[in-house]
Amino acid sequence: MPTPDSIVILTGAGISDESGIATFRGPGGLWEGHRVEDVCTPKALVRDPALVHRFYDERRGALAGVAPNAAHRAIARLQREWPGEVLLVTQNVDDLHERAGSHDVVHMHGALLSALCAHCGVRTPWDGELPPAACCGDCDVPALRPDIVFFGEMPYEMERIEAALARADLFVSIGTSGAVYPAAGFVRLARHHGAATLELNLEPSAGSAWFDDTRLGPAGVLVPSWVEALLAG
Ligand code: APR
Repeated sequence: MPTPDSIVILTGAGISDESGIATFRGPGGLWEGHRVEDVCTPKALVRDPALVHRFYDERRGALAGVAPNAAHRAIARLQREWPGEVLLVTQNVDDLHERAGSHDVVHMHGALLSALCAHCGVRTPWDGELPPAACCGDCDVPALRPDIVFFGEMPYEMERIEAALARADLFVSIGTSGAVYPAAGFVRLARHHGAATLELNLEPSAGSAWFDDTRLGPAGVLVPSWVEALLAG
């Protein structure tokens, strides 16, 4: 694999697994305990806002008890030391990349520590009790929602992500099942534009056939060794 200049990294729930955060589709995953349509759709928020808020309050509260792992730290090191461009896109809504030292993280599915005003789209940090809306002022709880991209809604920063994939020399997917679009299609977009593609995952994903190279194992082992080798040239 030639030395890349511009790298796009996509992470999924698997990178946070070794930090103790449940994935969605693995054994004991979040979607085993909850129906998506009950907690992660716009209709769910209208039908039962208290249930939706409880689901995300539980996940937000759990963040205090977890810490970034070696995979998060290795990506932050790559962002610091790589001479070219590194765009980190995550499907995760936790803050472990930031706590590991990563910057400019693109949370395409939103973030637990942010509240969104459904009236005017203003975001407010949410790291404890439901924050007072720092926006239009006439928001009530149903309008002030978790800043999470629900199923059926458009992920954030798609134009920026697609532009980065168009100029990437290397696309790396870490800890994702490839079950949800548009993220699951990024590998094909990257290949179409000539990027080399690498998958680091515990098990084969739905998109493994599209990757030039798929390495199977825990992210906490695979990611640091991949970064070490890349930086060693
Ligand atoms: N190291 C590497 N990979 C792991 C590890 C680990 N320690 N543990 C699990 N994995 C892999 C699993 O094999 C699986 O392929 O991570 C992937 C997790 O898949 P999902 O649970 O489907 O999570 P993700 O791919 O991030 O889901 C995408 O679906 O429900 C929506 O919005 C939600 O962002 C989420 C999206």
